[in-house]
Amino acid sequence: MKKSVGIIIGGKSVEHEVSIITGMQVFDNIDRNLYEPKIIYIQKDGKWLIGNCLHDINNYKRKEFKDTYEVLPGFKNNKLILYPHPEIKTSFFGKKYPAHEIDMVFLALHGTNVEDGAIQGLFQMNGVPFTFSSVLSSAVGMDKVVMKKVFQSYNLPLVEYMWFYRSSFEDERDSILNEAEKIGYPLIVKPANLGSSVGISKANNLNELLFAIEVAMSYDRKVIVEKCLENVREINCAVMGYENDLEVSLCEEPVGWKEFLTYEDKYINGKKGLSQSKRRIPADIEENIEEQIINYAKEAFKAVDCCGNARIDFLLDGNNIFVNEINTIPGSISFYLWEGKGITFKQLINKIIELGELQHSQRNMNIVSYDIDLLNKMRASGKHK
Ligand SMILES: Nc1ncnc2c1ncn2[C@@H]1O[C@H](COP(=O)(O)OP(=O)(O)O)[C@@H](O)[C@H]1O
Ligand SMILES: [Mg+2]
Repeated sequence: MKKSVGIIIGGKSVEHEVSIITGMQVFDNIDRNLYEPKIIYIQKDGKWLIGNCLHDINNYKRKEFKDTYEVLPGFKNNKLILYPHPEIKTSFFGKKYPAHEIDMVFLALHGTNVEDGAIQGLFQMNGVPFTFSSVLSSAVGMDKVVMKKVFQSYNLPLVEYMWFYRSSFEDERDSILNEAEKIGYPLIVKPANLGSSVGISKANNLNELLFAIEVAMSYDRKVIVEKCLENVREINCAVMGYENDLEVSLCEEPVGWKEFLTYEDKYINGKKGLSQSKRRIPADIEENIEEQIINYAKEAFKAVDCCGNARIDFLLDGNNIFVNEINTIPGSISFYLWEGKGITFKQLINKIIELGELQHSQRNMNIVSYDIDLLNKMRASGKHK
């Protein structure tokens, strides 16, 4: 029997729309000999919808979801059960809306709440197999401060940076600005937990730095200030696998952007997503640089303990390589980086699902109860503490 796969898209995230694109691509390319896909759409207000019109991207453009209905997630026997919301009783034809059973969840989601371990926790706790990284790895991959700390502990090369809490900025403003300026302009200021370049700006002087910090603080309670490399090249590379069994994709170089890759550069200026004309694949880099990037990419994937497929982004300043970030659920799941390696989109999805199942079975091997009959022993001894 075919497995039912719930492709979850949307969510309360600034990358909501990007996720719709990724989800549609997965829906169009998933192997229908093995899987029965269903789109589950989490709207920006947090409502979960299912229905056939969610399978057509035009309905999202028009924001018309006619044959959909709201569901609530429930769990039974390691499956996700989508129950019709109790407030909706019957359909147009007087029939009851059915519940749906989902065997496996494919998370086509990007950004906070959905790529950061939050939704992963829902499935991990309820024993439902899901794709990509665990709660911990997803959370580490999303928080740029924690990510940098983890990368540092693996001796991965990073650009110079400092960070602070929004709540400290009022009281420690001078020392924070001092520390930031010590790095030296130009600086780049980022909210710690976002994505798609939202809330990121460059600063060439104190006024611009103050403005950039204000912008970043409106998005997050943790702010990073780092050295902005000029005339830098960006090189990205994806890694697929789990634990020590890893494969590396081709490297890409996004081209045609000005100061830094903005949201518009990434998704709007290209024809569909970041179009092929805006990427050079494979990247035109020397063999020894590519070799180092590949090694760093694998190290970064292992450092965060990722699963499935992740994209690691690098900054190349002359011959100096810096790890910029890891994306634990990359846009379009980086299918375009695997095609040149002879791996089709369909094969990539199959592999990601298999790796999700492997991670799930690994988790199931762990002992989760330890029977020492503590409560009865406590009663016998009369001690409660
Ligand atoms: N230290 C840096 N120097 C120069 N450009 C940078 C630096 N850090 C980031 N950028 C540019 O900003 C973009 C967004 O930054 P990034 O850290 O990747 O955040 P996001 O998670 O939003 O993608 C990058 O794609 C790159 O173009
Ligand atoms: Mg990035």
